Amino acid sequence: VIDIRKLYTQAGVFTYDPGFTSTASCDSTITYIDGEKGELLHRGYPIDQLAEKSHYLEVCYLLLYGDLPTAAELEDFESRVTKHTMVHEQMQYFYRGFRRDAHPMAIMVGVVGAMSAFYHDSTDINDPWQREVASIRMIAKMPTIAAWAYKYHIGQPFVYPRNDLDYASNFLRMCFAVPAEDYEVNPILARAMDRIFTLHADHEQNASTSTVRLASSSGANPFACIAAGIACLWGPAHGGANQACLEMLKEIGTPDRIPEFIARAKDKNDPFRLMGFGHRVYKNFDPRAKVMKQSADEVLDLLGIDDNPILQVAKELEKQALEDPYFAEKKLFPNVDFYSGIILEAMGFPTSMFTPIFAVSRTVGWISQWKEQQSDPAHKIGRPRQLYLGATRRDYVDIENR
Ligand code: ACO
Repeated sequence: VIDIRKLYTQAGVFTYDPGFTSTASCDSTITYIDGEKGELLHRGYPIDQLAEKSHYLEVCYLLLYGDLPTAAELEDFESRVTKHTMVHEQMQYFYRGFRRDAHPMAIMVGVVGAMSAFYHDSTDINDPWQREVASIRMIAKMPTIAAWAYKYHIGQPFVYPRNDLDYASNFLRMCFAVPAEDYEVNPILARAMDRIFTLHADHEQNASTSTVRLASSSGANPFACIAAGIACLWGPAHGGANQACLEMLKEIGTPDRIPEFIARAKDKNDPFRLMGFGHRVYKNFDPRAKVMKQSADEVLDLLGIDDNPILQVAKELEKQALEDPYFAEKKLFPNVDFYSGIILEAMGFPTSMFTPIFAVSRTVGWISQWKEQQSDPAHKIGRPRQLYLGATRRDYVDIENR
């Protein structure tokens, strides 16, 4: 058997592939994407089937352990996750150190990074039991961490998790309930929230997941690795696109201004891009966007929203961009973030919460990939090479002679 990894390192050559457009950084058995066919499979199961028939925690189990759970396995998994939804009470002081107007993503990077200061019994990456506890903790606590970042941001008291609720309902309640007031979670909105979580659960070696793997390759603890992933996700070319997309729709404002923005997106001298359009891997359609679009229609229907100006702009922009030869030629289609922003806006989330919600969803993907990497004894520290284009050797010149 040829060991491909050895072959590469012994060959004495390296590839120059900025943006890693055609370089595999690892092998994995978790997620498969066929960009031409618009296919996304988790452990072999198509995403549209999972979005329709399954739910987020079952998909978490699938990603983490490789197979769909039996009823008993699922019950056990759900109860383990439920047990860990609280965050350490002292972490509240950490939140209070941030400025009130801090972006929730800034708070999340800090709070998740600081978890290793609170949960010492799950930072030993060489201990499979500690790895398991860290995984469950991350999945369980992320909705609480994100909801508290939001509550802090809007100046409301924190709402504690309620463990008789399902994952999505619990998150909605922690975001929207005000203590001492009744808050009933609408089951259709909870289902839509669960779908958003499910559709973002994993996406193989995207930028944030690769960041988690790179951080983890040095042996960093899981909380530090996930904080690195959150930081990377924040960028507008990745998870920040959902916020950027909604802000763009608001800036467009009315359908008559769409041609002006489409013209800007096509102008090579203008850095502006249509946010929520295009994808590195999907070149025909994003299978998650199809399900998300259907979910958006359901939510808007339920809430009786069809005259929202932002949604009118979104629908018209989608239509005009898809009819434009520039977008067809470059295979630019609405991606998952184009529609998720519309749903979250309709649910009442401010745009600043869009990327934190993406981070909650993607946590299981990051953790599954981290576990896979850590359980491979042959994994190496990630250390890319570079193509040096700077000055050749030269001698130091004393400051008075420069
Ligand atoms: N609007 C206008 N033109 C675009 C867009 C866009 N949204 N996206 C790509 N293009 C053009 C580029 O200008 C480029 O044109 P050129 O060949 O004439 O130079 C061509 O399409 C290819 O673009 P690249 O940037 O090389 O494609 P890449 O695969 O590197 O980028 C990306 C993919 C980052 C998603 C890009 O399409 C983009 O910036 N989209 C907007 C941001 C966005 O929605 N990101 C979310 C991604 S999905 C996710 O994270 C869940």
